[in-house]
Amino acid sequence: MPEQQVLFMRGPWNPLHIERAEGAYLYTSDGRRLLDAGSGAVVVNVGQGREELSRIAERTVRRLNYVVPVWISPERERLVERLARWTPPGVNRFFFTSGGSESVEMALKFAILYHKVSGEPSRTKIISRRFSYHGNTMGALSAGSSLRRADYEHVLFDWPKIPPSYCYRCPFDKTYPGCDIDCAEALEREIERQGAHTVAAFIAEPMMGASGGAVPPVKEYWPRLREICDRHGVLLIADEVMTGFGRTGRRFAVEHWNVKPDIIVGGKGLTGGYVPMGMIAVDDRLVEKCEDAHADFMFFTYSAHPLACAIADGVLSIMERERLVEHAAEIGARLGAQLKERLSGHPMVGDIRGSGLFWGIELVRDRERRIPFPSYAKCVSRVLGEAVRRGMFFYPATGMAGAAGGDAMMITPPFVIGDQEVEFIVNTARAALDEVYPTMTS
Ligand SMILES: Cc1ncc(COP(=O)(O)O)c(C=O)c1O
Repeated sequence: MPEQQVLFMRGPWNPLHIERAEGAYLYTSDGRRLLDAGSGAVVVNVGQGREELSRIAERTVRRLNYVVPVWISPERERLVERLARWTPPGVNRFFFTSGGSESVEMALKFAILYHKVSGEPSRTKIISRRFSYHGNTMGALSAGSSLRRADYEHVLFDWPKIPPSYCYRCPFDKTYPGCDIDCAEALEREIERQGAHTVAAFIAEPMMGASGGAVPPVKEYWPRLREICDRHGVLLIADEVMTGFGRTGRRFAVEHWNVKPDIIVGGKGLTGGYVPMGMIAVDDRLVEKCEDAHADFMFFTYSAHPLACAIADGVLSIMERERLVEHAAEIGARLGAQLKERLSGHPMVGDIRGSGLFWGIELVRDRERRIPFPSYAKCVSRVLGEAVRRGMFFYPATGMAGAAGGDAMMITPPFVIGDQEVEFIVNTARAALDEVYPTMTS
């Protein structure tokens, strides 16, 4: 069958044919082995091919296939109990979906519902940041600000955007430390400009993901966002679809700064790619207020599906038993140090930043002036092609300089890697850059 028919629509990528996977490795149908240094789309946190999870799946499907989401299954009970130990105290009410976009959608809807039952139905706007990605459905795409909006711009919600906390390309043209304070103030100015009585929520990724190429903010940024949201009665939503469940070396990235959001959005690592699932964790008091008002919050057919709940519980239990969040922090620190040591002097490398197993290598045409390669140069695709040829996949990020282009390699391997994989990642990244560099400048 032609590839494009299998894939729905022909895209810019040369598709790989993956037969099977184990741990951090993918095996192609033509017999090659690839180290998956991207964890797929930053998903496969516990690695692939876990027997324990296939046994859980078999047991669950044999016993209970489906429950209407207004009912309770033992799988859901166990998961909620465990999740309450992962999320910040008091953020313990969980709504489940089939992925990140659905979860963002529900977080936005919940924020609007909460204000309505609180007697403020005019609070309907969602403020977010430029260079952000929150998903692919209409509401999530409206909240995001990536190039992926382009073909749908004419039908999306016209919600306000503020600058990102992007030190390397800081729109305020300042440099570390403490400069992000201005980015946070941009939120306050925007709330005031819109009128606080019209703003329901502010949503942001704690560390910029695919649209920024893994960018942690300075430590003052999120505590300031919390203060500003509190001052104006605006709900603070942390989109941890990519950063959650240990990716940055903490259970959730907001823990780096001791910030308690009103809503945490999760997906990806929650089930580690074994089955589709997403969630929102909401402050108990907000949900109680909606309950008291007899509000309705419609489910999806597959909300809290028993199989997904059982797998998520199994994935989190593996992470606890094998101390994978701690491992992500420790080995991630070594990975980051080695990436910096081996790559930061490379003429194509503008910046290396990250935390835990969440690293971004920004690729530039001019290091001094931070000028990115234009998108038509397909810089990161070419580096990726070369890395794949040498046995490694990483997650490519593009568009971080908007219309001006911008590329980054996201090095986000599964939490099961060891020092041997770290060495392979660093060597392969260096070799791929060395190979591509002369072709970019000629
Ligand atoms: C921060 C963030 N939010 C939301 C999403 C959407 O998740 P999904 O693709 O599972 O719908 C993504 C996907 O990459 C993401 O990175």
